[in-house]
Amino acid sequence: MGEQGEKWILMVTAQTPTNIAVIKYWGKRDESLILPINSSISVTLDPSHLCTTTTVSVSPSFQQDRMWLNGKEISLSGGRFQSCLREIRSRACDVEDEKKGIKIAKKDWENLHVHIASYNNFPTAAGLASSAAGFACLVFSLAKLMNLKEDHGQLSAIARQGSGSACRSLFGGFVKWDMGKESDGSDSKAIPLVDEKHWDELVIVIAVVSSRQKETSSTSGMRDTVVTSPLVQYRAKEVVPKRIIQMEEAISNRDFSTFAHLSCSDSNQFHAVCLDTSPPIFYMNDTSHRIISLVEKWNRSEGTPQVAYTFDAGPNAVMIARNRTVATTLLQKLLYCFPPQADADLDSYVIGDKSLLKEAG
Ligand code: ADP
Ligand code: DP6
Ligand code: CO
Repeated sequence: MGEQGEKWILMVTAQTPTNIAVIKYWGKRDESLILPINSSISVTLDPSHLCTTTTVSVSPSFQQDRMWLNGKEISLSGGRFQSCLREIRSRACDVEDEKKGIKIAKKDWENLHVHIASYNNFPTAAGLASSAAGFACLVFSLAKLMNLKEDHGQLSAIARQGSGSACRSLFGGFVKWDMGKESDGSDSKAIPLVDEKHWDELVIVIAVVSSRQKETSSTSGMRDTVVTSPLVQYRAKEVVPKRIIQMEEAISNRDFSTFAHLSCSDSNQFHAVCLDTSPPIFYMNDTSHRIISLVEKWNRSEGTPQVAYTFDAGPNAVMIARNRTVATTLLQKLLYCFPPQADADLDSYVIGDKSLLKEAG
């Protein structure tokens, strides 16, 4: 191992953006492997929007695996962290850092411990997919540290075992999570559909309605849905498979009307399934509903959709404008309906390109 006694430390830092599903994953067929009841499609955001930064380090002086999230120590005893750590450790390879004089052999990893420090630059557990960016970044940075040879698709199947949505954050652009058929989950992984350059007219605007932690986590919410909702099986078997095909085609053809129609309908059906759960789950609030009405009315008055909206498991709106001009008008409309003030309905806006806010005045 290291030639400097027990003093060395090796570190890797990575940054991973979050992703927002336009065809939603909601419901598992296997809780411990995290296998979904339907495939899903998402768009990975630009890191200037929302992202996680994670630093992982290893040193012979570390006595146990430890993790800090947003500066506070959290327990790694949960099954999801343990699954990711186990899967990565079992694939670890030799590592050599000539400058520091450090050599770690494959077999050494079994006895070495890691420290993990992770920060989200956006609200955690508020329905903006922190678990997606978080676990994707954790798996990616550990894979770099331990010199794994696996490709992004194989790493996505490991990230999936941390949080389902995380498998899609290993790629940029539009990404599909294929639900897979195998009971061991080996084929349940992310597949890149098109990269971020394919449809670069699109502009994403996020309205942070509330940055508070949600009452029902995605994990427990979807568990309750699978057990109690009569609608969810119909959605998974009859509705989503058709939408996946249509959405792939709409993305490939840059067909915004179909894209917007499918995204909005799928978000609304996901929230309908939440309402069909017993006890019902309310992720959206009055402000979310007002944003939906605003976009729907605008789209109808224009004759063709200008903006698509989608809401994850929380009240925050993710809006996708067909181009930059539309995004500027969207911001103007939002600023007019939800003026920034001390007791505002909206906490903040997140836009990749900040100059848009200036243009919107
Ligand atoms: P969200 O809508 O934000 O994804 P979830 O309920 O799905 O909310 O997941 C929130 C959980 O994800 C957190 O309680 C935490 O366990 C995990 N998580 C969030 N951020 C990170 C991170 N950066 N690294 C590791 N795990 C994270
Ligand atoms: C509404 O991936 O957070 O955002 O797999 O239990 O960690 P776990 O759940 P998670 O669920 C995401 C649900 C969603 C839709 C989606 O991202 O597809
Ligand atoms: Co999540």
